Amino acid sequence: MDKQLLEESLALVDLPDAGLTVRFYDILFERYPAVQPMFQRDSRVQAEMLRTAVVSVLDHLEDAEWLTTNLHALGRRHAELGVTRPMYAAVAECMIAAMSEIGGNRWTDAMTEAWQEALGAVAGIMLDGYPEESAESGAA
Ligand code: HEM
Repeated sequence: MDKQLLEESLALVDLPDAGLTVRFYDILFERYPAVQPMFQRDSRVQAEMLRTAVVSVLDHLEDAEWLTTNLHALGRRHAELGVTRPMYAAVAECMIAAMSEIGGNRWTDAMTEAWQEALGAVAGIMLDGYPEESAESGAA
């Protein structure tokens, strides 16, 4: 995984006040309105938590043990919330859409590919933490 490109591209689009993740939720709820009722918390608080989670993963990209322990636990919490496998693809798509919109003409295809790979890997580890079968039912 291209850690440097991930960090550089995040720095390019990481607006103050969790602006990137706030824009991400707007796009997510516009494209996938069915997931909106799952979110109970104030969306700015939620956006800040997601931003923190993404930055922590980037900080530990070479630490397989940290990734496994933390992302399995995060995956188990998402299983309880009813988050299914197709929802991870929806979230990755909308996160990259928000980044590309904010990055404008400075956002490149290589950045999109780096984030597709990274978010796909994170989703894979989170889903590995799910109890048997609970990831498969329910569309985004
Ligand atoms: C890259 C993958 C993801 C990461 C890193 C992530 C991160 C997080 C974090 C850090 C929290 C707070 C956990 C806590 O309460 O202790 C959270 C909560 C939550 N996540 Fe995710 N998440 C991911 C994918 C998803 C997906 C695909 C969905 C489904 C659309 C989702 C839905 C939720 C919901 C509903 C909550 C609880 C919100 C609330 O309490 O209002 N997440 N997520």
